[in-house]
Amino acid sequence: MFENESFDGHEHVSFHFDGTTGLKAVIAIHSSALGPAMGGCRAWSYANETAALTDALRLSRGMSYKNAVAGLPLGGGKAVILRDSSSTLDDHFFESFGGVVEKLGGRYVTAEDVGVSERSMVAVARRTSYVSGLPLRASSGSVGGDPSPKTALGVFLGIRAAVRSRLDRSDLGGLVVAVQGLGNVGRHLCQLLHEAGAKLLVADLSAKSVDEMASRYGATAVAVDEILTQQVDVVAPCAMGGVLTEASIPALRTKIIAGAANNQLREGRDGQRLFDAGILYAPDYVINAGGIISAGLEFLGEKDASVVNFRIAGIEKTLAEIFARSRETRTPTDRIADGIARERLSAAHGSSAARM
Ligand code: NAI
Repeated sequence: MFENESFDGHEHVSFHFDGTTGLKAVIAIHSSALGPAMGGCRAWSYANETAALTDALRLSRGMSYKNAVAGLPLGGGKAVILRDSSSTLDDHFFESFGGVVEKLGGRYVTAEDVGVSERSMVAVARRTSYVSGLPLRASSGSVGGDPSPKTALGVFLGIRAAVRSRLDRSDLGGLVVAVQGLGNVGRHLCQLLHEAGAKLLVADLSAKSVDEMASRYGATAVAVDEILTQQVDVVAPCAMGGVLTEASIPALRTKIIAGAANNQLREGRDGQRLFDAGILYAPDYVINAGGIISAGLEFLGEKDASVVNFRIAGIEKTLAEIFARSRETRTPTDRIADGIARERLSAAHGSSAARM
């Protein structure tokens, strides 16, 4: 594991197995310098265990950076569940996962991610209180619930910031946006973009989701392998990571990349490639922080939804600052964002070391 190229001084990595429910999970804590490590739980069919471990390592580091740049008093962690043909992912399964989270004693706080629903988190909550993204309850005021609409809101605001910076326009009316992936985030994003007057091109593996966006928002369907290369103002990757690569970047015909998917860059140099191509890239973990801001503040006991919305609105300002610094220093946006995150993490490491 220490030789895995995604290992980055992670504080903790554990492997969990429950023979009764078939649960196989990896939990990675990248850093708890800023607070308990928080990040969603992803259920996915991985090619092998190394792929699952690599995903947990990359995603948990991304959460450290995301929480740091969002200004949350939370560290970064992530859980991945290895799905196979025999896993049922029912309530018993997620209760078992809740038991695993509980054993970590609050070092890791979970929530939903790809392949995991709000209902699953309710099952997790039967075994641990270190869980967020639960349905709205009277006791939590109007804060919490499915984080996806909040993520979509943050992405929408981030697209606005990018359009202002790259196209020098303050509204989205008439702009063409290609949305890849119409799941929990993508479909909410389509709604916000449509309401703002943008024209939509959409693609998803599910024809039903595409048809829904076409009939609701007049979106034009595009083939899954052609969505990224459309001639548009904005491409919003809202499916899986690793879509921006040495091979895919030269084929892009957009001025802006701004979407929800985690780990959009396949490797570090892809940020430079986008910069050199004149494409403004909204760093994924900055623009997609709306969900963690909602779930994080829910976990921290915030009851006022206007506080959550105010913090999500901050994504637009943070991105505007990153874009401005990128222009001034001729540095790719992902490097500017990483620099901010690392500064905050090392300042927190410094102060926690000083307290010891
Ligand atoms: P989801 O699982 O609800 O939706 C993903 C959608 O992408 C599905 O409809 C799937 O059919 C589609 N898809 C998969 N591969 C595709 C391809 N090659 N081309 C087109 N469509 C494809 O996931 P969700 O929650 O909407 O998340 C989307 C992305 O945003 C993920 O990368 C996730 O990690 C990230 N994200 C989600 C957050 C949330 O609050 N849900 C928070 C932060 C990041």
